[in-house]
Amino acid sequence: MTGDKSSATSQHMDKRRSTFSGKLGYVLAVAGSAVGLGNIWRFPYLAAKYGGGIFLLTYLILMLTFGYALIVSETALGRMTKRSPVGAFQTFGKKMPFKFGGWVNAVIPMLIVPYYSVIGGWVIKYLSEYLRGNTQILARDDYFTGFISDGFGVELWFLAFSLIVVVVLFAGVKHGVERVSKVMMPLLVILAVFVAGYSMTRPGALEGVKYFLIPNFENFSWMTVVAAMGQMFYSLSIAMGILYTYGSYMKKDVDIEKSTTQVEIFDTAIAMLAGLMIIPAVFAFSGGDPDTLQAGPSLMFITIPKVFASMGFGTGAGIMFFLLVLLAALTSAISLAESGVSTFEDQLGIGRHKATILMGVIMILFGSASALGFGVLDFVSVLGMSILDFFDFLTNSLMMPIAALATCLLVTHVAGLNRVIEEVEQSSEFKRKKLYCFFMKYLAPICIVIILLSSIANVFGWITM
Ligand code: PHE
Repeated sequence: MTGDKSSATSQHMDKRRSTFSGKLGYVLAVAGSAVGLGNIWRFPYLAAKYGGGIFLLTYLILMLTFGYALIVSETALGRMTKRSPVGAFQTFGKKMPFKFGGWVNAVIPMLIVPYYSVIGGWVIKYLSEYLRGNTQILARDDYFTGFISDGFGVELWFLAFSLIVVVVLFAGVKHGVERVSKVMMPLLVILAVFVAGYSMTRPGALEGVKYFLIPNFENFSWMTVVAAMGQMFYSLSIAMGILYTYGSYMKKDVDIEKSTTQVEIFDTAIAMLAGLMIIPAVFAFSGGDPDTLQAGPSLMFITIPKVFASMGFGTGAGIMFFLLVLLAALTSAISLAESGVSTFEDQLGIGRHKATILMGVIMILFGSASALGFGVLDFVSVLGMSILDFFDFLTNSLMMPIAALATCLLVTHVAGLNRVIEEVEQSSEFKRKKLYCFFMKYLAPICIVIILLSSIANVFGWITM
């Protein structure tokens, strides 16, 4: 690459922009950012909670339609305007709606990275326990609950994770991290295939495989759609300004349609592998216990240790697994934080160091609240949710739909579908052009209205998550 996304994002917008060197460079960079805790930690627990196969089906449909159209739009707008979101929106107008549209996209990563780092901290903690050989202890039923209610312990691990992120941003050694992660990603896939194979062949696990893969319409609820849509945004890094920025570094000859498809396939394959590791294990080790299926954010930390404790070389597998997840989490967290830093640099006109410090402060403030929310702050409940869950809900179920709506309106009412189509056609034929227009004009706004109304209804307790 002639300066990959990491060096590129750190540059001011008006200097000569670096570009990804080619098609592979672009796909790898986007996939590196897309694959993270969203795939391995978040997807399986949502699938377990919101109906298994029916969640998966809803997710796949949304991804191939709505998600696809949004990725293409964001990337094309980024490449057309050569700006990250705030600038991209302002290219079309300086008034309030444009400012708002850009900012809502830009603020989301700043709100995600703090709580993302809390989960990153949990991963480091588990890695350190495996390194000390505590494989059996980690598999105990109450281990995880005990760990997170010790708020200060969680806080320390969270700070450790955040420190790595901030140091990497300061030192500007993102290339190094990304190079390592390009080697580690394939390893993660191999290990995941192996663990999924092991987990699926445990006695009783088949029920879990069925639960995850075969849609059962009885399990369907509106919240399945809401959760699947939020997850789709999260996992594919849509509706948070990231793809505008990446698009702006993309050369004119990269096929937007094809690279979108490749990123979607890769990202979904990893999420499904994680589902096949975790959900069958819930059935094998907890007999499909409804409480465990509903465990939410803690699911990965409850079932995966049981899998490792039951197998030979469990400690080695545990070390490998949590190390690889840690890397995937770090690269994603770095790209989230980097997006915040470059927004600050560009919009506040401050230097890189100051911008990094500002991002670090935001991470520590919001992240600490999330980390302590299960311990000393466990009396705090926002709309009936823990602080971490609240941040997750706020960004995924409320802000991202609004950001997506802003992008839709920008495309359909301001820039015009034709300009986006022209942009895509600069590099290749736009095969799914008609579908794209249909998705943007009708499907996307409908989906967004559904998700927003359901989220609001959920806040007021009319429906439950
Ligand atoms: N998509 C990442 C994940 O699945 C999260 C992320 C979003 C990372 C946006 C970077 C930018 O974990």
